[in-house]
Parts: sequence; structure tokens; C-alpha cells
Amino acid sequence: MELACVGVVGSGIMGSGIAETAVESGHEVILLSRTTESAQAIAKAIKTSLDRRVQRHKISPVQADDALRKLTVTNEISDLRGCDLVIETVVEDLAVKLRLMKDLDIVCKPTTILASNTSTFPVVELAAATARPDKVCGIHFFNPAPVMRLVEIVRTLVVSEETIEQAKRFVLSCHKEPVEVKDQAGFIVNALLFPYLNNAIKLLEQKVATKEDIDFAMKGGCGFPMGPFAVLDLVGLDTALSILNSLYEEFGEPNYSPAPLLKRMVAAKMYGRKNKIGFYSYSS
Ligand code: 3HC
Repeated sequence: MELACVGVVGSGIMGSGIAETAVESGHEVILLSRTTESAQAIAKAIKTSLDRRVQRHKISPVQADDALRKLTVTNEISDLRGCDLVIETVVEDLAVKLRLMKDLDIVCKPTTILASNTSTFPVVELAAATARPDKVCGIHFFNPAPVMRLVEIVRTLVVSEETIEQAKRFVLSCHKEPVEVKDQAGFIVNALLFPYLNNAIKLLEQKVATKEDIDFAMKGGCGFPMGPFAVLDLVGLDTALSILNSLYEEFGEPNYSPAPLLKRMVAAKMYGRKNKIGFYSYSS
């Protein structure tokens, strides 16, 4: 298999979802987390998710075992040296991502493709932090990664054709559908989704309706699977704020200026599903 060994960096929702997707489609995955505890926790979460799919008769117990055997978790970056592709999914903080890209560039073999799952940062800046800018692209999965079919492939000004083609083939091998996008904040989906999510918060601030009724209206009126507040809690309010800040910085348009309530909720550490409190509360 091309790009047989895939490194995933970061043990948040996206890292775990991408790792699960890749092992289930037959790739060897080495998942790098900051601590042994978080690495073990993510391995457990992936096992639970695969078990759920077995219970739902979506995959066989043998397939789940095969997938788990393909997963290695580590907290040593040097373990990624032999990977054919590394996808970083760490916190949306440019300084953190730049440092990581530099480290990956030093550690990984010269042919490794380095990809970022960033939603908004210029991928070309990450590429420029390495000595292999032609081998750096964006591979942007959506949440929940095991379920959402689309993956945006981000083409920078300096990436090679071969890297883009390999990234697309990797996405197809994960049974997802790639769409190529220019290296511009928000790409396609977030550039359109986030003004909508932001304006939903602004409607709530204006007391136009309750959050439950706004969610209900967008599901019933537009056929969306989830309303905006449920999506915001799924994405994470801290991530949503960071995305809006980047979009506002890039385009300066009022639609991207984060709603004050979102800023206050993030300041209050209300992050959504990930810590069980956002626009809604979650017991498990
Ligand atoms: N992880 C893994 N699988 C999950 C899951 C999760 N977190 N949540 C649901 N699923 C799976 C279920 O197991 C089920 O799979 P199956 O059909 O193989 O059994 C399937 O998804 C459908 O789940 P349910 O029937 O329980 O629930 P729904 O029909 O309500 O679907 C949903 C759940 C797929 C999350 C659907 O509500 C949906 O599509 N919501 C929209 C999500 C969305 O907008 N995502 C984009 C966010 S923006 C983003 O990611 C960009 C980033 O940069 C911020």
C-alpha cells in the first residue's frame, strides 16, 4: 500500500478520528501524544469506537482486531522517523504547529509527506518552516472523522504535484472523497460554515429565539443533521473561536468577527463536548 505507514500527531478529537479511519482502512498508524497517559487514553478511545462499530454490525470482530493491531501509540517523536505520511492535528496555535513542523522535518525520512489538519492557518507558513516545502500540504478532515466523507486537500504555492496526488490517493484509500482547495483561511467548508455558526450565536445574543429553537429551526427548515449550537459544541468552542479569529484576520469581514458570547464562553472554559459543557451540558 502506498503511504503504508501514517503518523498522526495529537490526541484530540481529530487525531483520534483520523487514526481510527486510517487503521480501519489498512494503514499502519503511529500516533504521537504528549504523554504516555494521553497516548493510552486515545488507544482506549479508538478501541471503544471500534467496539461500537462491531456491536452495530458495521465491522466484524476480526476487522476491529486487525485495525487495533495496526495502531501504535507513543510519546517519542523519533518513532515517526519511518512514516510515509505524518498528519499533525495539534492545537490551533501557529507557534505550536511551526515548532512541530520543524521537529518533524528533522526527525522524518526525506521522503515523508508532512501534512497539517489545520482549519485556517496558511499551510505555506508551515511548509516554509521545513526544508521540504514541496512535500507539505493540508489534509483537512471533518468531525467526526470516521463518519464525514469529505477531506479538503490544500494546495500551497510551493507544493509538488506528486505530493498533492499522493495526498489524494491516501484520502481515497481511507474511503473518503478529496476536494482540492487553495491555501486560503477557511478553505471551502469553514469559510462558509463559520459565518453561519457565528451569526447563530449573535441571534442568541439578540434573544431572537432560544438555542434549542434555533437548532430545531435549522434542522427542520434546512434539513441540516445538527443545529448550529450542537455543531459548535461538537467542533469545540475554543477551536471555533480560533477559526473565527483567523478568518477575521485574513479577510477583515464583520461576519467573521467572533460573537462576544463565544469569547466569554471560551474564557469561562466552556469548550463544548470535549469538557462536557458548552451551549449544552453532556453527561458522558
Ligand atoms: N465518532 C465516530 N462515529 C460516529 C460519531 C463519532 N463521534 N458520531 C456518530 N458516529 C457514527 C455512528 O456510529 C453512525 O455510524 P454507522 O451508521 O456506521 O452506525 C453514524 O455516525 C450516524 O450516527 P447516528 O445515527 O448515531 O447519529 P446521526 O445520524 O445523528 O449522525 C453525525 C451523527 C454523523 C455526527 C451527524 O449528526 C452529522 O453529520 N452532523 C454534522 C457534523 C458536522 O457538521 N461536522 C462538521 C463540523 S466542522 C469541521 O469538522 C471542520 C473543523 O475544521 C472545525
